Amino acid sequence: MADDIAEILIPEAEVQAKVRELGRAISRDYAGKDLVLISVLRGGFVFLADLCRVITLPVTIDVMAVSSYGPDARPLGVVKILKDLDESVTDREILVVEDVIDTGLTLSYLLRNLEPRAPASLKVCVLLDKPARRIVDLPIAYRGFEVPDKFVVGYGLDYRQRYRNLPYIGILTKEAVDRLNRQ
Ligand code: IMP
Ligand code: MG
Repeated sequence: MADDIAEILIPEAEVQAKVRELGRAISRDYAGKDLVLISVLRGGFVFLADLCRVITLPVTIDVMAVSSYGPDARPLGVVKILKDLDESVTDREILVVEDVIDTGLTLSYLLRNLEPRAPASLKVCVLLDKPARRIVDLPIAYRGFEVPDKFVVGYGLDYRQRYRNLPYIGILTKEAVDRLNRQ
């Protein structure tokens, strides 16, 4: 698997240090509050798993799953919810934990879907921000890293469902992309 990586963009130690830093900030900001961490499957699960363990407050965890179409197949800002939250978020502090914000379309749809449920607050924590590709502007309360406009894998992020279990963020070799495209 590591042979398929052309370049490590963010090494494991840097990812972990950043997650701890975000966890400290979140623990400070939400002290005494009823915090619900919401992750978006599948990409968000690794970040959520590490982040929740460095937050020192009692938290509730819930997940949503959304359909991801390719940019061509996806109508602007329309995302399908495949799995909704299990619990009510009314009057609770919601923090949406996402792996990456690229165009921003997925997250902006999700926020518009969560807002009418009348949470006490609704904020976003994202590990990777790709501002170069943004179509919809979004408020980001907690941001891990700003990354260039390159397709990255690892730490939850996939290419054709592979590489989510890499502990770092990397860029695939052309050979790996070609091979997976042929499969
Ligand atoms: P957006 O709607 O364009 O912001 O894209 C959001 C989703 O696209 C993310 O949750 C990822 O699943 C996927 N995505 C965007 N950029 C990358 C990348 O560089 N690697 C892997 N998946 C990505
Ligand atoms: Mg995703």
